[in-house]
Amino acid sequence: MNTITVNASGKYDVIVGRGLIGQCAEYISKAVKSKSFAVVTDDNVDKLYGDIVVSSLENAGFRVCKFVFPHGETSKCTETLNDIYMFLCENHITRSDCLIALGGGVTGDMTGYAAATYLRGTSFIQIPTSLLAQVDSSVGGKTAIDLPCGKNLVGAFKQPELVLCDIDALSTLPREFFIDGMGEVVKYGMIKSAELFEILEKNDLDSIKDILEDIVCRCVSIKRDVVEADEFDRGERMLLNFGHTLGHSIEQYYNYTGISHGCAVAAGMAIITGLAVNRGMCSEEALKRLKSCLAKYELPEKAGPAVSELGNACLNDKKRDGGFISPVICSEVGSSAYVKMTIDEFLDFIG
Ligand code: GLY
Repeated sequence: MNTITVNASGKYDVIVGRGLIGQCAEYISKAVKSKSFAVVTDDNVDKLYGDIVVSSLENAGFRVCKFVFPHGETSKCTETLNDIYMFLCENHITRSDCLIALGGGVTGDMTGYAAATYLRGTSFIQIPTSLLAQVDSSVGGKTAIDLPCGKNLVGAFKQPELVLCDIDALSTLPREFFIDGMGEVVKYGMIKSAELFEILEKNDLDSIKDILEDIVCRCVSIKRDVVEADEFDRGERMLLNFGHTLGHSIEQYYNYTGISHGCAVAAGMAIITGLAVNRGMCSEEALKRLKSCLAKYELPEKAGPAVSELGNACLNDKKRDGGFISPVICSEVGSSAYVKMTIDEFLDFIG
């Protein structure tokens, strides 16, 4: 078991290990003083882990209620959020109580946003059960819901009190969800760690499962460093958007249902790196290594329409800043920078 401490506006531990879900009350009781907990989870994760979490907390003497919503990105909306608020009221959850996000990115983002806003803020804990949530979305305090016009458009920065990454939970993940998470893992190697990238190159979709604790720890450590340097996403944290500018446009093209986030990011990384090679901003070797690593983990190197058509969709990206957009470019494996461009420069770049 490993503990990575994040020192942001709130200080909290990310615990990475096995068998954590069954013993969650032990870790939770050390992290918060709350006596009542509201577990928020989707119907798929509830079947696997809902009762285990509730029993662990009840056996430790806590009062627990559980809110279950239908799985999927379409639930990450104002209607479900409203249902969560009503549920919290009806179950007399007060400011000294604590929400628990049990599940993947949708659950973590939405529960975190409920915690940021209900009663002007209650504490919350993340128990991420998908690879994507363990390596990325559960850490760093970005919370949000979607609007009909785009993903994550309403949100808040709200750090959790504790993150429990139970590696055992990844063994029940369907293959496509595992591949989805690997998209973000490859991103971490590309932006910050040639060493992580080499580990990915030496393994494949089967053998990586034997070293997942190490992989999750490496990604969380990188994210910790980035979040500590720039919690509110004004500089360094933008590096985590490598592949996301085009990736979000690809997701939008497929109506957020036809392609997973990790696959869209994978294609976004390959496309932007190809463009960077054409402009002499990245080595051909780095592009070759990226594409072969994506193929190893069954991630796409292209998706959606022609790159030039993706350009206009990028301009709706919430990361656009007035008349500027800052795509992330990796000059080499493990080395990244964001390049501030005017909209015209960007459209010319993706040309
Ligand atoms: N997932 C990107 C970030 O947390 O900034």
